[in-house]
Amino acid sequence: LGYTEPYRPQYHFSPEENWMNDPSGLLYHSGTYHLFFQYNPGGSEWGNMSWGHATSRDLIHWDERPVALLARGYPDTVTEMYFTGSAVADVNNTSGFGVDGKVPLVAMYTSMYPVAQDLPSGKHVRAEQQSQSIAYSLDEGETWTTYDAENPVIHNPPSPYEDEFINFRDPFVFWHDDTQKWISVTVVAAIHKILIFSSDNLKEWSFISEFGPYNAVGGVWECANLFQMPVEGDPSTKKWVLVLGLNPGGPPGTVGSGTQYFIGDFDGTTFKADSDNVYPDNKSANWMDFGPDFYAAASYNGLPDGEVIQIAWMNNWQYGALIPTSPWRSAMSVPRHLSLKTVNEKVTLLQQPQQSWRTVADHKAAKHSWESVSEGTTSLDSPGKAFKIDLSFADHDSDDSLASTFAIAVRASSDFKQETLIGYNFTSKEMFVDRQHSGDVSFDKTFASLYHAPLSASADKRINLQVFVDWSSVEVLGGQGEVSLTAQIFPEESATEAQLVSTDGTTQDVRLQITGMSSSH
Ligand code: FRU
Repeated sequence: LGYTEPYRPQYHFSPEENWMNDPSGLLYHSGTYHLFFQYNPGGSEWGNMSWGHATSRDLIHWDERPVALLARGYPDTVTEMYFTGSAVADVNNTSGFGVDGKVPLVAMYTSMYPVAQDLPSGKHVRAEQQSQSIAYSLDEGETWTTYDAENPVIHNPPSPYEDEFINFRDPFVFWHDDTQKWISVTVVAAIHKILIFSSDNLKEWSFISEFGPYNAVGGVWECANLFQMPVEGDPSTKKWVLVLGLNPGGPPGTVGSGTQYFIGDFDGTTFKADSDNVYPDNKSANWMDFGPDFYAAASYNGLPDGEVIQIAWMNNWQYGALIPTSPWRSAMSVPRHLSLKTVNEKVTLLQQPQQSWRTVADHKAAKHSWESVSEGTTSLDSPGKAFKIDLSFADHDSDDSLASTFAIAVRASSDFKQETLIGYNFTSKEMFVDRQHSGDVSFDKTFASLYHAPLSASADKRINLQVFVDWSSVEVLGGQGEVSLTAQIFPEESATEAQLVSTDGTTQDVRLQITGMSSSH
């Protein structure tokens, strides 16, 4: 397969054809990273929701596998769709699904029933009801059996939320070692609540606690996930992080979907956010990403204790179905390695790319440095269409001779009428991505925008930016990874130029490294 169509991601996962949304079941098992995802087998817009499947040994090279859970009834009348969920390896066979010593992989997902019906389990569901169900695989995720004898295993939202049965979804299941229980985190989307359940066997679930609403409460809350990590340099301290999506209701300056997180503690029953992570009057939030295209972030199950890798859907419900790609729609973010570190006395979440991207990075990187970059533009050799940038420069306070903003223009046409600018505003202390002139912006009136994220200088007073550019996206990590900004772009194929742009004055002590990225296909 070529994977050479216009805008085709070269080192980000995208399905060969058709519509994709949320990662739904990220599981590392027996040396394989599984990526299941919301998938329409019948077209490149949302519908017939099924679980697509891809596998990888390094999180970069993916093999697309047969559809794992095909919408029930498809291609005729669909009676059950498989919405977002998660997957675990039931190594102790608590579910009893394992036979002949084979470890069952168990998926927990939302059953969305378009029509009212009586199910084989004897349970009755109403039109558009959302309930939580399970399925298992005894062949490393290739084929799946739904647990029809009892599905759905969480039939209705518990009291007092019974009325929310059409907005009850996205179970994220994991093994909680301290209490030796399975935990499942679900959302009651429209009222901004997380409901937590526990189980001994993945089949019978008890409602144990709830969380929310706190901080950002725009639109609906979706796709929660909860995981534990050590705090760097302080191995005795472990914290829990709750991540969830909002739609519409993303970070300031964006329209549509966004992702927020809370750092706190989870005792096996209740998640409690740290007091410095809850802001008064829902006026603020911890944003996982400040760009428009980072949603439904999900974390891997099955990794060594304390290790967290996350992948997000690199699209936005605002215009997801309109992006000008064919025959597929949507890609995933680069897999990100998460960690916690105390910065300015506050436990801070850091994101870094997973190391394995190096397998597609060119060995020879172009390195440049300038004591001072003068006002205006500075030419660079064309880096092409897929590459990684490491850019760092001295921070400064406002001064007549010094720049107000400094940026690198990428995916630019030779006259620079088309370009995506990635840079820093020294006055507002924000990094930014400007996609106003990035190429095709015509399909949605909110798309041509500038996005920004607060970023302070490092201890040695420098601004550090790490940028991943692919055929239709840019992902920027600022500082040590304490801020992230992800945006899709749709430039012309010939837009392969780059230059530096220092506005209103000079920028000092600039270091730039550009590393070409080859295709992972
Ligand atoms: C989030 C979401 C989920 C739902 C899925 C359906 O993007 O709306 O809440 O389960 O997509 O495809």
